[in-house]
Amino acid sequence: MSFPIQRLRRLRQHEVFRRMVRETSLAPSDFIYPLFVVEGRDRREEIASMPGQFRLSVDLLVKEASEVAALGISAIILFGIPDRKDDRGSSGFDANGIVQRAVKAVKDQVSGLMVVTDVCIDEYTDHGHCGIVKDGRILNDETLDCLRAMARTHAQAGADMVAPSDMMDGRVAAIRAELDQAGFPELPIMAYAAKFASCFYAPFRDAAFSSPQFGDRQSYQMDPANFREALREIALDVEEGADIIMVKPALPYLDIIAAARGRILLPVAAYQVSGEYSMIKAAAAAGWLDESRAMMESLLSIKRAGADLILTYFAKDAARLLG
Ligand code: PBG
Repeated sequence: MSFPIQRLRRLRQHEVFRRMVRETSLAPSDFIYPLFVVEGRDRREEIASMPGQFRLSVDLLVKEASEVAALGISAIILFGIPDRKDDRGSSGFDANGIVQRAVKAVKDQVSGLMVVTDVCIDEYTDHGHCGIVKDGRILNDETLDCLRAMARTHAQAGADMVAPSDMMDGRVAAIRAELDQAGFPELPIMAYAAKFASCFYAPFRDAAFSSPQFGDRQSYQMDPANFREALREIALDVEEGADIIMVKPALPYLDIIAAARGRILLPVAAYQVSGEYSMIKAAAAAGWLDESRAMMESLLSIKRAGADLILTYFAKDAARLLG
């Protein structure tokens, strides 16, 4: 049975029909909004490569977090930018570090918002790598100790969920064991399970001053060419005790999101990263794309591919548009 019996345009004739048969929808509760926190007071610096995104001091971060909550957005994820960096990233697992203080302040003053923390030492290391460096190599098991300490101090500060983004082997199991032992058996882990060595992180590294000072991240982040390996990474994180798995970046990796959705029963998150955001912003600023439509179409595509949750710098704009 085909044309003229089948006419798919019948149900496209009217907006109400289109709405009736629409398969995918977005809601503010789908979003997690990434925020950058810096030392100081009353500090609000726009990030040059990410127009509309800011580095905020804790006092202004709390105000921002209340606005985010009022828009119906589920959660924020915090990235710390410390004043002090060293070779182990120790300001990242200081109980009084920038993220730990930010978490405490937001949890004390804002209700109805989940606070997620990014667990990775790259923002805190002077060499900018996500692991301990020795003789130019990134050490895996030595890095796990730093990640355990970081996750524990985030939990102690009141974080609702921790999100390891370093791509060391075994970090989900290590963090799970540490949290259980420290009295946080109920605290969920959202694992950046399939994180690719992508050029689309460039604006973020500019925002967080976290570019590697030598080499690149290809010895720990994934090769963009690899699909099967992504499924292995995801399966391992599930086995190690992840509660949510994440694919990152989002739009160039929709096949991975769709495959993850088809194969695992955990919630799947996708990170629409800085470069994905800045590309749309730049094209819109040049008058080449309609910003709102490009934003909504990309978010909808990520959801349609199978993401339950989307980490996106567009969270506030999209939530406003969704009303
Ligand atoms: C590592 C981390 C990065 C991002 C999130 N966590 C940067 C990297 O791997 O270089 C990138 C996020 C983005 O580009 O928006 N802590």
